[in-house]
Amino acid sequence: MAQAMQRQWTLALLKPDICANAAIIPKIQQAMQHHHLDIVHYQDVLWSLDDAERFYAEHKGKFFYQRLCGYMTSGPFQAYVLSSPNAIKDWRQLIGPTHPVRARIMQPTTLRALYGLTDTRNSFHGSDSIANAQQEIQFFFPNLNLHHL
Ligand code: PPS
Repeated sequence: MAQAMQRQWTLALLKPDICANAAIIPKIQQAMQHHHLDIVHYQDVLWSLDDAERFYAEHKGKFFYQRLCGYMTSGPFQAYVLSSPNAIKDWRQLIGPTHPVRARIMQPTTLRALYGLTDTRNSFHGSDSIANAQQEIQFFFPNLNLHHL
């Protein structure tokens, strides 16, 4: 008997450096669609420092924590819920390694290699596990019930 195709959801962020250049956003959305990542929801976001510190709480104490939170409150950005059978892995593969300089050497066709600026202004975020994806989607879209999509 044929099984229904499994869906998975992930949270993607287009960070402030990308959203400062409106011409790039449609190119990123096209890349999502080209890689069969359906855009289920998205919204524009402007964070307070408290929002950033709560979202990145697991990194509190790391040398980059304050820099990261400061950067994520420096301007508007976009949050997306993406869906595909392997959305978490697919989106993380598409964005590539965390550090853009390394991305340009190791995986030059990834989005961070193409658009990332620095270790901090690295343009994108992607959930790294099913549990984190659920938690992060809830953070941005508390009224979204993924089981009803
Ligand atoms: S760690 O230490 O392995 O957990 O770090 P990592 O998973 O690579 O990154 C966690 C988030 O911190 C961001 N990051 C940085 N921000 C600013 N400066 C530096 N040097 C830096 N290094 C890592 C990284 O982009 C991750 O955030 P997201 O939003 O997931 O990209």
